[in-house]
Amino acid sequence: MAVRRGSALKKLVGLVTRKGMPTPDVAVPMKYPEELKPARQATGFGLCRLLGISRDDYAARNAQMRRSYEFFGAPVASFVFVHRGLGMYAALDAGVFIQSLMLSAHAHGLGTCAQASLAVWAAPVRERFKVPAHYKLLVGVAIGFASVHPVNNYNPGRLPIEGLLLAPSGFNGSRRARLAERDQDAGAGEGVGHG
Ligand SMILES: Cc1cc2nc3c(=O)[nH]c(=O)nc-3n(C[C@H](O)[C@H](O)[C@H](O)COP(=O)(O)O)c2cc1C
Repeated sequence: MAVRRGSALKKLVGLVTRKGMPTPDVAVPMKYPEELKPARQATGFGLCRLLGISRDDYAARNAQMRRSYEFFGAPVASFVFVHRGLGMYAALDAGVFIQSLMLSAHAHGLGTCAQASLAVWAAPVRERFKVPAHYKLLVGVAIGFASVHPVNNYNPGRLPIEGLLLAPSGFNGSRRARLAERDQDAGAGEGVGHG
């Protein structure tokens, strides 16, 4: 993990916001998965509503996007690199790591924001740290003191627990169908017994 603060952080903000095309180390999904789009859009629209940004106000939308690359004003930006040889498991490790980092920061009275967007321009970040070639920038975490801005109370909602659980295979979803299936099984059993 690489951490920058103070004037070095300001320079980094300049580089990240002024350099041209994205230079990610890890491929950024260009096509958002269809099934995940509704939740993403609802979150985005809700955030824009809260910030008073209308859908067609591209200047305001871009300005808000830019805040991402200014680490939302946080005094510390951290960048997490993963070993390319570990494939998807590296992302698993990094996810657990940043979760612990964020929980620890919060326990110390700090606020954090995990930012995948900070991995989109990897080149300027790599310029500022001695990063071995086989380590790839995956995610950043801004760390600072949480402000009282209403955006920090934005709650886009969470999936209900059922939305996180997989149904057993062969189960068609409705409780009524499940009960009918059970009755049928019981009936079949009786049939065998009486037969
Ligand atoms: C791995 C990861 C990457 C994220 N990347 C971004 C990002 O690039 N930009 C952003 O505004 N929020 C990003 N988020 C969302 C915010 O970090 C944060 O989770 C969101 O503001 C909601 O905060 P809450 O879960 O505390 O309600 C990311 C979250 C995670 C877990």
